[in-house]
Amino acid sequence: MKAVVVRHPGQENVLEVSELPDPGQPGTGEVRVRIHASALNYHDNIVMGSTDTPIGHVPLADGAGVVEAVGEGVTELAVGDAVFARFFPGWQAGGPVLDHFGTTPGIGPSGYAREIVVAPATQFERTPRGYTHAEAATLTVAGLTAWSALMGDGGVKPDDTVVLQGTGGVSLFALQLAHLVGATTIVTSSSDEKLERARALGADHVVNYRSVPEWGDHVRELTGDGADHVIDVGGPATLPQSIQAVRVGGLISVIGVLSGLAGEIPTGFINMKQIRLHGVLVGNHQQQREMVRAIEASGLRPVIDRRFPLDDLSEALRYFTSGAHMGKVVIDI
Ligand SMILES: NC(=O)c1ccc[n+]([C@@H]2O[C@H](COP(=O)([O-])OP(=O)(O)OC[C@H]3O[C@@H](n4cnc5c(N)ncnc54)[C@H](OP(=O)(O)O)[C@@H]3O)[C@@H](O)[C@H]2O)c1
Repeated sequence: MKAVVVRHPGQENVLEVSELPDPGQPGTGEVRVRIHASALNYHDNIVMGSTDTPIGHVPLADGAGVVEAVGEGVTELAVGDAVFARFFPGWQAGGPVLDHFGTTPGIGPSGYAREIVVAPATQFERTPRGYTHAEAATLTVAGLTAWSALMGDGGVKPDDTVVLQGTGGVSLFALQLAHLVGATTIVTSSSDEKLERARALGADHVVNYRSVPEWGDHVRELTGDGADHVIDVGGPATLPQSIQAVRVGGLISVIGVLSGLAGEIPTGFINMKQIRLHGVLVGNHQQQREMVRAIEASGLRPVIDRRFPLDDLSEALRYFTSGAHMGKVVIDI
């Protein structure tokens, strides 16, 4: 079967299109899935760029396809089911756990940049009815992260105002979900053109964070007392503005690290305004099932910016890291 593997860690041409042995038939509790699509996420770039990533590693954590065979004891999935991957195969429900990144396909074990996967059935969830494989692939990371930020502890309500940072995969999903609930949405972006497209997707207000670096003040002007909820994907460079933008007693979902892992945060304002900071790490199986039900009930469809064939994964990654995209970049397999 065809796969893309990490062949030259740390070098410019890190990836190689390879022929790997067919993984065979599923054992007890396993399924064999023909993968048809994947999608790119920020962490994929880190995995593929790291010199610690082992030679032969198959990248990508997003994956969607069709069950071709089921092993003994598998009752929850059947041959012919359309499925998409779970990010944390072992996190079924309940509160956060820390030590499971090593179990995530594409980060610890090999991921979905390949044609066939044989894995425990618990690694997959049923695809929403009517979704294409390309659409389903975008849900594993970006969709579920947006869902658990807004619908988990976030509990977004129709009279809330939500700030979405940037126009990447997570933020556009969150925009669509907030819009669905009836919340007022404010989208930030570095690009006026992307902001116009965000308006077409339902953004009530937009602000360019390049030309208005103090966009937190702008949010306060728009809302009077600040936003109820900020989806922060920037990290250290954006948190000070998120803290400025949110109302007293408001919520910031701390999701992304686009500006790095450390920086100066005005902690005084966090306690003065009694802000809640909620660190979000994708989500669990129960949240994933709830997201699927909501998608089926609402007809929500992800924003796919561009699609690349598996052979062109390196080119897709260059496009993704250039920041030109809006929404998800999909890999057809
Ligand atoms: N915690 C979790 O569970 C989780 C899950 C998924 C992703 N993440 C993280 O969340 C972040 C976003 O992920 P993604 O998949 O949505 O990425 P993405 O699709 O690459 O989107 C990134 C977008 O964010 C905007 N952006 C970039 N730098 C920014 C900055 N300094 N300030 C404000 N906006 C900025 C840009 O939008 P414009 O082009 O419109 O300016 C960019 O296109 C990444 O750090 C990723 O690792 C975390």
